[in-house]
Amino acid sequence: MSIGMSQEKTVGSATLLELQSMAEARKLFLQRVTWVHHWTNGLFSFRIERPDSFRFRSGEFVMIGLKDGERPLLRAYSIVSPNWEEHLEFFSVKVPEGPLTSRLQHLKVGDYLFLSKKPTGTLVTDALKPGKRLFMIGTGTGLAPLLSVLRDTETHEKFDEIIITHTVREEQELAYRNFLEEEIHADEIFGELLRDRFTYYPTVTRGEFRTRGRITERIQLGDFAKDLGLIGNRFNPQTARVMVCGSMAFNKDMASMLEEHGLKEGSNSSPGSFVIERAFVG
Ligand code: A2P
Repeated sequence: MSIGMSQEKTVGSATLLELQSMAEARKLFLQRVTWVHHWTNGLFSFRIERPDSFRFRSGEFVMIGLKDGERPLLRAYSIVSPNWEEHLEFFSVKVPEGPLTSRLQHLKVGDYLFLSKKPTGTLVTDALKPGKRLFMIGTGTGLAPLLSVLRDTETHEKFDEIIITHTVREEQELAYRNFLEEEIHADEIFGELLRDRFTYYPTVTRGEFRTRGRITERIQLGDFAKDLGLIGNRFNPQTARVMVCGSMAFNKDMASMLEEHGLKEGSNSSPGSFVIERAFVG
């Protein structure tokens, strides 16, 4: 097929040529969708091709979106994939009335998405001082950046042990569970790197499950420490480093708890013992 013909391709209500000129005018990349996976009626993941010049630090987010009339409609999305992957993966909710996700949930392989050129964020190991254990605590789609950080070899150079917790309402919302329980352990590089150094700790708040309840409660009640074989139910400011990603209320509660335990929030310019980012919702 000639380039001319492929540019006449219709993507949603626009032609590829229209999308390309909008991307150029707004200084955005226009990237092809290569994979879509629906976890539940409310959650899905998708991948786009990664532009050669697109660089990011594992854990960062970027703006992605679709054409909406005469302008692009963009929302922040954490990147699920680590910074060495050839594609960019995202994890999203489907909000029926959400301006972007109501349309995004119908994505198909071969569609195109806008991608902004400047990724950013604070859920990066650069914003944390070195430590012994890295606790990555996420709720809902807040798991996304944690999956990126987990698969960055720098993370394993900086920390001896990694714990990922994921709290959701119903068990079926434990997206990436099979990946975290099985696939990563069979991975050529990470299988070895994570052996005896990685714990995946899912919790479910509104259904029967072996580790039931909000992670905040499980930490405070001591169940979390007991399940992990840790001494005491407090984070040790000398050795514990924490990444938090979830709803506003969750982030706020986690931040107060960590501050009570004597941990200090870090940033890119001033690394600390914990970092926080809101899980973005379209
Ligand atoms: P819960 O079912 O008790 O509200 P959501 O889908 O609302 O973003 O929530 C995702 C998960 O995060 C749910 O399991 C929810 O528990 C939990 N959660 C919500 N707010 C908080 C909070 N402030 N502290 C701890 N967990 C929370």
